[in-house]
Amino acid sequence: MSSEGPIDSGSGTVQARAPSASGVASQRVVDIQGLSVVYDGGPRGKIHALDNVDLTSERGDFVCLVGRSGCGKTTLLKTVGGFVEPALGTVRVSGQPVRGPGRDRGMVFQDYALFPWRTALRNVMFGLEQSGVRKDEAAARAREYLAMVHLDGFEDVYPHQLSGGMKQRVAIARALVYEPEILLMDEPFAAVDAFTRQQLQALMVDVWKSAAATVFYVTHDIMEAIYLSERVVVMTPHPGRIRKVQSIDLPRPRDPLDPKVARLAQEIRDLVFEDT
Ligand SMILES: Nc1ncnc2c1ncn2[C@@H]1O[C@H](COP(=O)(O)OP(=O)(O)OP(=O)(O)O)[C@@H](O)[C@H]1O
Ligand SMILES: [Mg+2]
Repeated sequence: MSSEGPIDSGSGTVQARAPSASGVASQRVVDIQGLSVVYDGGPRGKIHALDNVDLTSERGDFVCLVGRSGCGKTTLLKTVGGFVEPALGTVRVSGQPVRGPGRDRGMVFQDYALFPWRTALRNVMFGLEQSGVRKDEAAARAREYLAMVHLDGFEDVYPHQLSGGMKQRVAIARALVYEPEILLMDEPFAAVDAFTRQQLQALMVDVWKSAAATVFYVTHDIMEAIYLSERVVVMTPHPGRIRKVQSIDLPRPRDPLDPKVARLAQEIRDLVFEDT
């Protein structure tokens, strides 16, 4: 069944995975060491959002972050994205310290954030054009990624003419079109209905395989985390720490009715809701 990462429940220390079976030392795409994040909470004083988090990830990993509301999942994603600075510790991407956002990290949020006045194709093209890619080349690449999320034929449609799930697929194509090393996703399917969510989850696994990206994915849904990920990172709140990293060594596609899945889900649920 599943194996578990070595965990230090007190400090939130989590070790990197072992080198790959091929014997070739694996490349760390994300390397977080001793990360603490403190926000200025105004009248509430300082908010210790993350405390001494260590987490490493190899190329092609799919990591889901789960935990109670306010435990620092979004904050962790944003520090990798370069939108939030550490108070202590380091965050490295492909060996380099993160100094701000970059095209090597694509972000997908819950609320799509598409330009309403641009068609699906032109939404996906936007960043490429901004970075000086020729229009015909940008269009060709945008078409390719819209096809990857099964939106070929919808290139000329505006966001208001698309369903929530379709909008989110445009947002995924827009993040992937730069061919980022890392895809950072914050509850991307939380706003769509349960049936569409299932379809998007299956699509996400396909996209992850074909884009060969490393994915960090935040969710409240433990079954979703088990369906998608190679490893589930369970966080505890106030301050946010890593309680455990659970490897999901089950064949894909994972079946929610598989007793192993149910058992893992229960274990993870217990960890999320256990008192700190
Ligand atoms: N910009 C900010 N300024 C001040 N405090 C913040 C800020 N962003 C987050 N926080 C605080 O940091 C803590 C962690 O927040 P974060 O958004 O990372 O949690 P989360 O795990 O993503 O929660 P949720 O599941 O509700 O999205 C919370 O206590 C939150 O109030
Ligand atoms: Mg959040």
